[in-house]
Amino acid sequence: MNEVDSVRVITLVDNNIWKKGLASIWGLSFYVETYKNGKTYPLLMDTAGSFNSLLKNSIELNVDIGNVKSVFISHWHGDHCGDLSHILNLVKGVTPVYVPSYNVEVKRIKKTGAVAKICDRPIEFEEGIMSTGKVTEGLSEHSLLINVKGKGLVVLSGCGHPGITKILKRAQKVSGINKVHAVIGGFHSVSSEFDGVVLANFLGEMDVKLVSPCHCTGDNARRGLEKILRKRYVRNGSGRIISI
Ligand SMILES: [Fe+2]
Repeated sequence: MNEVDSVRVITLVDNNIWKKGLASIWGLSFYVETYKNGKTYPLLMDTAGSFNSLLKNSIELNVDIGNVKSVFISHWHGDHCGDLSHILNLVKGVTPVYVPSYNVEVKRIKKTGAVAKICDRPIEFEEGIMSTGKVTEGLSEHSLLINVKGKGLVVLSGCGHPGITKILKRAQKVSGINKVHAVIGGFHSVSSEFDGVVLANFLGEMDVKLVSPCHCTGDNARRGLEKILRKRYVRNGSGRIISI
């Protein structure tokens, strides 16, 4: 897998609020901007469940979602792909939409003039930016990988239905990069404090430098993760900006 010079991940919408005044709903949306040789590549990962909340927060955070070059939908749940066609109508140009599997939404994507790309297999759709390819564990979900120069993989998970450990192992395998620098997103697969501690120990053994669970990660699991990971744990919510 190729690499980028750096990446900035802005949490546009999350269940929790990081920056006062922003909207919060059950759902997730990240604005991801990579930088390479002076060029930027902005993309939208997931659209949360409400167009109004996404638009309000984007304006407040000075993010122009109309300028994204692609959209990445982690899985077909309403809290990740809600109002997708409204958002695609805002985006200029013919936008590739990377999705994990076929769904009736694909027809709606076509109607907006965008192009659905089904990620059955891993695909590096832009230098240094990759889909893990779908992992099916009850439902199909794929995760977004960014390989940052001198750091390693930044793994962005939607809900994390397949489980974070499985996602990370898949990420290493498909990218050919062993070093995982950061994991950000939904850690759906852990709920109790004990689960959080077990996962934190696994992430510690992998020497992951930044762990930022949000969205569907259980509160008890967050406590367990934070207790073990300490400074490597980064709280998240609508308006959080992480630069790597
Ligand atoms: Fe979710």
